[in-house]
Amino acid sequence: MSRTRCVNMTQMLQKAFEEHYAVGQFNINNVEWTKAVLQVAQETKTPVILGVTSSAATYMGGWNTVVGLVNGLMEDLDITVPVALHVDHGGSYEICKAAIDAGFTSVMIDGSHLPLDENIAVVKKVVDYAHPRGVSVEAELGRVGGQEDGAMVAENMYAIPEECVRLVNDTHVDFLAPALGSVHGPYHGKPKLGFKEMKEIADLVKIPLVLHGGSGIPDEQLHMAIERGTAKININTECQQAWTGVVREILSTNDKVYDPRKIIGPGAEKGIKKVVVEKATTFGSLGKATY
Ligand code: 13P
Repeated sequence: MSRTRCVNMTQMLQKAFEEHYAVGQFNINNVEWTKAVLQVAQETKTPVILGVTSSAATYMGGWNTVVGLVNGLMEDLDITVPVALHVDHGGSYEICKAAIDAGFTSVMIDGSHLPLDENIAVVKKVVDYAHPRGVSVEAELGRVGGQEDGAMVAENMYAIPEECVRLVNDTHVDFLAPALGSVHGPYHGKPKLGFKEMKEIADLVKIPLVLHGGSGIPDEQLHMAIERGTAKININTECQQAWTGVVREILSTNDKVYDPRKIIGPGAEKGIKKVVVEKATTFGSLGKATY
């Protein structure tokens, strides 16, 4: 196997931004899961982003394991649609560098918990390492509430438009995730997103925006986000819930089954595939891999 077939997110998100749809980032956890996302993408001609947090990478073996897994599937399944392999919530320059060196095509450097100047400094350092290597970079400002990788994160905090402009101008980052009321994990009550602020930020920074915490946001709100410059929407929880629902059903209705392929395989075939098709349809990205 020679080089990766994965691409960075630049072209796919620029196209989505210009044509007013969003590409889905689906977080992956294992081979069955990854295969299901890739198969749906290929069958429906849909660009996709595979999101991997540090803890998911560690769970699977490490950054090199994930790159090997994804490149192997791309080759064996003959995946020709645009697929980006992206670090989700990279917590430091060293983490992003390790993933890039292993073969990731895109990274998120999450300095959102840092004071603005420190966030800008670390984003710039990652951009300076990533861009010459053809790797795209996403940054975050403000704070997305809820759970992140199993851990509770502080309260929501809205991104401040002037800070977004400074970060984008000073770093030349490719995409910005401004936290505007979305949460990771299940919502308690109806999501209340800052759409006015989203439009204001999009008009100021003029680069594709990213919406974290996409699970559980009603379709009409997702459409409103896309109309306001969001070109990438992250989905993790809904895939996890769909997978677990199918696996739980199998185990609770069949106490003789012991072949793991018959237990976890359907979680991907029936659970993950359904979510990916539904979300890509809602986002407007289904069938957009025609370039
Ligand atoms: P959900 O788990 O709420 O879908 O959020 C996913 C996400 O934003 C990953 O960065």
